[in-house]
Amino acid sequence: MRVETDYLVIGSGVAGLFFALKAAAYGEVLLLTKDQIQESNTTYAQGGIAGVFSSQDSFEAHIQDTLTAGDGLCREAVVRSVIQEAPAAIRELMAYGVEFDRDETGQLLLAREGGHSHPRVLHSRDATGAAISKALIAAVQAHPRIQVWEGVFALDLITQHHLGIYVNRGYPGITCYGVYALEIATGKIWTILSRVTVLAAGGAGQVYPVTTNPPTATGDGVAMALRAKARIANMEFYQFHPTALYEPDKRPAFLLTEALRGAGATLVDPLRHKPFMHKYDPRGDLAPRDIVARAIDTESKIAGLPYVFLDARPVKNLPENFPTIYQYCLKKGVDPTQDLLPVAPAAHYMVGGIDTDPQGRTSIQRLYAIGEVSYTGLHGANRLASNSLLEALVFARRAAQDTRDKLASYTGQKEVPDWDPPRQPPSRRTRTHQP
Ligand code: FAD
Ligand code: SIN
Repeated sequence: MRVETDYLVIGSGVAGLFFALKAAAYGEVLLLTKDQIQESNTTYAQGGIAGVFSSQDSFEAHIQDTLTAGDGLCREAVVRSVIQEAPAAIRELMAYGVEFDRDETGQLLLAREGGHSHPRVLHSRDATGAAISKALIAAVQAHPRIQVWEGVFALDLITQHHLGIYVNRGYPGITCYGVYALEIATGKIWTILSRVTVLAAGGAGQVYPVTTNPPTATGDGVAMALRAKARIANMEFYQFHPTALYEPDKRPAFLLTEALRGAGATLVDPLRHKPFMHKYDPRGDLAPRDIVARAIDTESKIAGLPYVFLDARPVKNLPENFPTIYQYCLKKGVDPTQDLLPVAPAAHYMVGGIDTDPQGRTSIQRLYAIGEVSYTGLHGANRLASNSLLEALVFARRAAQDTRDKLASYTGQKEVPDWDPPRQPPSRRTRTHQP
């Protein structure tokens, strides 16, 4: 079972979908996704996407906020260029039909989140990711040069290793020729050969016991890249979102967006119900999320309870502006307009990933990594809220552009063998015990 394509994209979140739409201008695209197309972290994004759209705001302020959150480990040139490119990338997203909230005069409504010195987060109520996924999926499905294979699980990147050559990290010119992928419904393994392969496989929140990430976020992209000997960076930085609704054993944990705190909600200790964030940071409830998550951890340990409370009662028009959260909480028996909400941190975002250059190129030739699976240097040690959807858009368009003039020179590798189970290491289940 073998197929050839110009572009092979792995993942149907914002990064993969946006890349597919851009790259289809230059060649045929095959997009694989292991579940249904809408299953991704992207679909669950709540708060929004950051960009400078107000005359009160400036690129320099967004840049400084990003560098501060990144704690000295950002690549500053990347930060500067991404933030300057943000408005153009976001306008392209709007051109695919993504609608962001506006006031009655048509001006974009901008929210504030942790670590941002100005309101600059564009949003669609509290379901921004769902709005983005819906619009991009519709555009991808209508595009004559994009094929989508759902329920197809990318297993292994094909490199010289599969031609029988010993490849280690020092091997010069490791090249990606495509992937082996499992069609889940039939158990068939496809050999997919591509001129360009793009990993847009998202994060790994499911590695942690408590996470906001859906079941698809299992780190496959980084694992495949690591096995293929790509350069990986900063995997020690996993970002915990401060405020997931506390429901023991609930996977994924339900997120309560930072935009609630941007709209007036405060964190209070679980025993006396007193605000505590100003003890930890002058920015209070809107400090960057690593600081807030650690403060919550400390306060809950002091109280001997596994949560603190979020007091969202001061938020104006909560049922209209945060309908997803309002309805979810009501179903769970708490009314955010009347009750305190128990919250605890949850694993949320893979800050490290496959190391790329500013065009999304990895250390492996013909292999790009974009979105959460990548480490571009934008986030440093810690991501500023709502900079993730932004990074995915910017790097998707850059990567597509980068391939334009090179595509024709990348020829297929006909001698790649089909997947050969006996040559793979035996699985734990079939391995025989040697006393
Ligand atoms: P994803 O959207 O995660 O897509 C990855 C895709 O790859 C999925 O389709 C998955 O099925 C597929 N895949 C994975 N492995 C394989 C495989 N082996 N074979 C085939 N397919 C595979 N960021 C913001 O900027 N603003 C927000 O408001 C925001 N809110 C968030 C709220 C929640 C609850 C969560 C979980 C995250 C939030 N984030 C937010 C983070 C942001 O949503 C993600 O970082 C971003 O959407 C990642 O996009 P992506 O395209 O890189 O990956
Ligand atoms: C949120 O809405 O609080 C999540 C924002 C993000 O992860 O950037």
